[in-house]
Amino acid sequence: MKIISSLSEFLVWRASISSSLKVGFVPTMGALHNGHAALIKGSLNEADITVVSIFVNPKQFGENEDFSSYPRTVEKDCDLLQSAGVDILFLPQYEDIYSDDVKSFAFEHFFSRQLEGKSRPNFFPGVVNVVSRLFNIVKPSMSFFGKKDAQQLILINKMVNVGGFPIKIIPVETIREPSGLAMSSRNIYLSKSQTISASKIYKSLLLAESLLKHGEKDARVIKNEIKKNLLVDPAISVDYISIVCLNDLKEVSGEVCSPVLVSVAVYIGGVRLIDNIFYE
Ligand code: PAF
Repeated sequence: MKIISSLSEFLVWRASISSSLKVGFVPTMGALHNGHAALIKGSLNEADITVVSIFVNPKQFGENEDFSSYPRTVEKDCDLLQSAGVDILFLPQYEDIYSDDVKSFAFEHFFSRQLEGKSRPNFFPGVVNVVSRLFNIVKPSMSFFGKKDAQQLILINKMVNVGGFPIKIIPVETIREPSGLAMSSRNIYLSKSQTISASKIYKSLLLAESLLKHGEKDARVIKNEIKKNLLVDPAISVDYISIVCLNDLKEVSGEVCSPVLVSVAVYIGGVRLIDNIFYE
């Protein structure tokens, strides 16, 4: 694996790659886990060359969020990437990404102000800014995003379409712990008992799925059941529970349309966790 830690070196490498080769790209913020490993595996299977970037993007964190304490485990990450068979690890500096020479794409959609966007107003503008810059540097043929960050995946897809990026966005299934807890770099913050509480998030989503499968159509009833299921655990406080119709990304207040995205954000001891299911 070649490690490249500057924009100029990356551009020289990129210019040396034949245009007939398919470059697969997995942008990350490091603290890699099996969820990232699944994205990387997807790229190794589909592309000729796999590029992974690690860049903890300050612009997607709010003032009171965990930018400074965000887990940084670069050595461990390098070992994982090396043994996975990744070709290029790109470790840009702040100045590389936010250089005036790198084009960003400003993209605004009402959905970026819902769910995560409501609770974290800096998040999607920051993600769109950094991902568009990374796309303009890496120039991949395809890029891999996890369904765990469903709203991010949907918005990046829209950005690529609106911005005319010639990049295929490939969604990858959420990877879970045996308890059902979705893998996340932030799980590192949880104590043992908080990890047990956190496993209730997915269980509440499975309950919603089962209600839908059994014909429950009222979104309020489903959201209420999720809420009741979560709040039996005093360690959990709910940020939001949402059901959006995937056709128009609007919150369903009455009868559930199909397909939908059911998503949940909770706090457990100050740690914010999200999860979701797509239901056809
Ligand atoms: O999902 C993430 O880790 C980040 O939001 C991303 C896409 C790498 C942009 O910083």
